[in-house]
Amino acid sequence: MTFKALLATKDGDKLSTNVVELEDKDLMPGNVTVTVDYSTVNYKDAGALGDYDVIKQFPLIPGIDFAGTVEASSYPGITIGDRVVANGWGLGQTHHGGYAQKARLNGDWLVKIPEPFSTKDAMAIGTAGYTAMLSVLALEHGGITPERGDILVTGANGGVGSLAIALLSNLGYRVVASTGRPEEADYLRELGAAEIIDRRTLSEPGEPVAAERWAGAVDSVGSHTLANVLAQTRYRGVVTACGIAQGHLALKKTRAESRRRTAGLTERR
Ligand SMILES: NC(=O)c1ccc[n+]([C@@H]2O[C@H](COP(=O)([O-])OP(=O)(O)OC[C@H]3O[C@@H](n4cnc5c(N)ncnc54)[C@H](OP(=O)(O)O)[C@@H]3O)[C@@H](O)[C@H]2O)c1
Repeated sequence: MTFKALLATKDGDKLSTNVVELEDKDLMPGNVTVTVDYSTVNYKDAGALGDYDVIKQFPLIPGIDFAGTVEASSYPGITIGDRVVANGWGLGQTHHGGYAQKARLNGDWLVKIPEPFSTKDAMAIGTAGYTAMLSVLALEHGGITPERGDILVTGANGGVGSLAIALLSNLGYRVVASTGRPEEADYLRELGAAEIIDRRTLSEPGEPVAAERWAGAVDSVGSHTLANVLAQTRYRGVVTACGIAQGHLALKKTRAESRRRTAGLTERR
């Protein structure tokens, strides 16, 4: 029996992706085989398919997460028919990921999906939602409560940002959303943002210490934005940093430059 997969290959510097037919023997080792129902198009997946050095070995099936139904398992506690979700663990980077009709991986990489969630729900929340929840838990772990004051969410219209707004507002926080897309203000208010600010107020180099404004922040933008958010955070505030949406082009440039230097050194030797 064959199944369809998106396979990324590399010839020299040229990345290609093609839909191919694979067999079970083409999958990597693992003690659980899953029929994949859904996978997200994550920020990292866009980086993988845009050749931002996300995929670490070729050929590889991209897709950093998926949700599906177990079709074979020798892992204790996971049985045929279980609905499961996976993200991280090198999926789509060093291990075949979710952009296929089938996946094989280690059982301890899987989480069973509890009722009433479907596999579709799990992937609608996705790794972005998982990251947003980790950020909210980190704020709570740092002692932040709604009474402490405003929480800033940067990259507000993005995957992490939008889910962080929804989670925080539902927990009773007053959320300030920073965005470069003011035309999406109504959407951000629907998610629960109480106030919307222009991301340009944060994205340029600023003062090392500024007036204290935020009790906490969820930042997925990094770069100057993160530096400014930190400078504006109140005493005993908490800022979670999970991303580099503002800094990814600079990072790509740095990596390309480092590769060029390494190649130059190799030639000279
Ligand atoms: N998604 C995940 O599962 C996950 C997990 C861990 C880490 N991360 C990291 O978190 C970051 C964001 O991921 P995401 O999934 O939320 O991506 P996304 O959906 O592409 O959203 C990123 C948001 O960042 C803002 N942004 C983009 N370019 C910017 C710039 N030059 N300056 C200032 N703001 C900018 C935009 O928000 P506005 O349009 O509202 O301005 C954009 O919507 C990435 O670095 C990613 O690697 C993501």
